[in-house]
Amino acid sequence: MPVKLVFATNNKHKLEEVADKLNGRIELLTLNDIGCHDDIEETGTSFLANASIKSHYIFDKFKLNCFGDDSGLEVVALGGEPGVYSARYDGEHGNHSANIDKLLKNLQGIGNRRARFVTVISLIWDGEEYFFEGTVDGTIRHERAGTSGFGYDPVFQPNGFDITFAEMTLEEKNKLSHRARAVEKLAEFLYST
Ligand code: IMP
Repeated sequence: MPVKLVFATNNKHKLEEVADKLNGRIELLTLNDIGCHDDIEETGTSFLANASIKSHYIFDKFKLNCFGDDSGLEVVALGGEPGVYSARYDGEHGNHSANIDKLLKNLQGIGNRRARFVTVISLIWDGEEYFFEGTVDGTIRHERAGTSGFGYDPVFQPNGFDITFAEMTLEEKNKLSHRARAVEKLAEFLYST
């Protein structure tokens, strides 16, 4: 019987990515699977705080092993913006196109285009909390390129490549993405316990 672990999300894309890295040896349950339909508010001011809010919410209510994650883009010349506000940089939650427009506008005339994506995972395992972080460094392009992926992918070019995340296949992106790196650390921990 595989061990059960709740992933505090209903995002199918994230679920597939994580399930793939966990190789089916752990049975992942979503919020829907455990009958949780609450909107868990991300009120923290760091990725770590938001990831922790999600895992604690589930653990406190359901007493199950679980993890939550939070990700975003940090742009050096903008002092780490949009950071935890990545999904709602232009105000409306999840309007990726408007968020990119705002980012490009704020970077107009700025030579330093360095940025990184960050993911933090908070795992609660047997009542103890553990954190796993994954990052990927890159630069922000002046214009969009590519159509795959989501969010800031069309303007993010990872270091060592001359294409954006949105020009990569999902498989290529998943080899080096911040989320993939954090999940790899999570998997390593789970399989060593
Ligand atoms: P989440 O915490 O994973 O839902 O990510 C929050 C926001 O960060 C997303 O809505 C995107 O704007 C941005 N983001 C996170 N990961 C990625 C990525 O892999 N590509 C592009 N944008 C991302």
